[in-house]
Amino acid sequence: MQNSWQVHNPEGSHHIIVTRPLLGDRWLKILTNAHCRVDVCTSKEPVSTQELFDAMNRRCEGAMGQLTELWDKELLTRFKAAGGMVYSNVAVGYNNVDVAAATSLGILVGNTPGVLTDATAELTLALTLAVSRHIAEADAYVREGKFKSWQSTLFLGDNLRRKTIGIIGAGRIGSTFARMMIEGHRMNLIYHNPHRNKQLEGVVGAFNDFLRKVGEVPVQCRYANTIDELLQESDIVSLHPPLNESTHHLIDSRRLNLMKRNAILINVSRGPVIDERALVEHCLKYPDFRAGLDVFEHEPKLAAGLKELTNVVLLPHIGSATHWTREAMSTIAACNVAAIVSGYPVWKGKDMLVFLNDDAPHAAPSIVNAAELGF
Ligand code: GLV
Repeated sequence: MQNSWQVHNPEGSHHIIVTRPLLGDRWLKILTNAHCRVDVCTSKEPVSTQELFDAMNRRCEGAMGQLTELWDKELLTRFKAAGGMVYSNVAVGYNNVDVAAATSLGILVGNTPGVLTDATAELTLALTLAVSRHIAEADAYVREGKFKSWQSTLFLGDNLRRKTIGIIGAGRIGSTFARMMIEGHRMNLIYHNPHRNKQLEGVVGAFNDFLRKVGEVPVQCRYANTIDELLQESDIVSLHPPLNESTHHLIDSRRLNLMKRNAILINVSRGPVIDERALVEHCLKYPDFRAGLDVFEHEPKLAAGLKELTNVVLLPHIGSATHWTREAMSTIAACNVAAIVSGYPVWKGKDMLVFLNDDAPHAAPSIVNAAELGF
């Protein structure tokens, strides 16, 4: 069935499509103030590729889309032919976009970093606690009327305090989550990243000065040269890398076998970072091993056997799902599109929050292929 499209500011001089309804109206004001006509697909379900193709039969200089859509070479070529200049994902990850193809077509690709860091790190924490303390299973137990009396051995979990957290991918979200675990739970940190994160190490150093001052034992912080050593030493491993060829199935059967038998694996990045079938096998073989997943390899489908496991907690990709964050993501994406069709430059700063102010800079906040296209 064809979805309907709602048209805002039909007289606008730049034509923009938005592939899904978005929260709030700030993003729409940004676009209409930039003299854009905005066609919004009203469907709550992912828009089909055919509908995106059909949308490209109209003039279309800018588009705001979702990680559920595949912006591949074919679609981007159609977009270009419709006048396409800029596409922005309403997401920080952009593995659904063929950026190389966009670059070769001269199309700028935007994303929304910086405004979902806290929400996603908080969800990572929630998932970690849910897994370590059997929250989902215990909730189901009460609802099913099984709670007959207090028992000293019911749903025993593990403390986080002074254990070792392993972070793979210490960018904005990974390092914010690492700080929550260090500052909140005095966990020791071991992290792996393409390069050392001096800022994170500096923060841990300053925190250790504070701990010494108040008479507490400092935490340890170590950069792991290899993922394998991180997996061997960590009690909890949290995955935060971008998805690309080098991180596809980063956690496979061999690497799962390196982990402690009672370790916890958390994934809020992208599903294909884990070989999900290997994870199911591992969780079946080692019932003390646990996992918390907000993302899946073939989302929204789950690997066979995954939902039958009691040692995993499963969430429907809600890492950034807070009211403030989702509105802020739409705002940043709208700023990306409005700025480029208005002929503004790309923002050189790192602070994205300035784009949430009424006097936001006249620039595109985050364009991932800006350098390649000479912006
Ligand atoms: C969500 O997964 C995002 O990349 O923003």
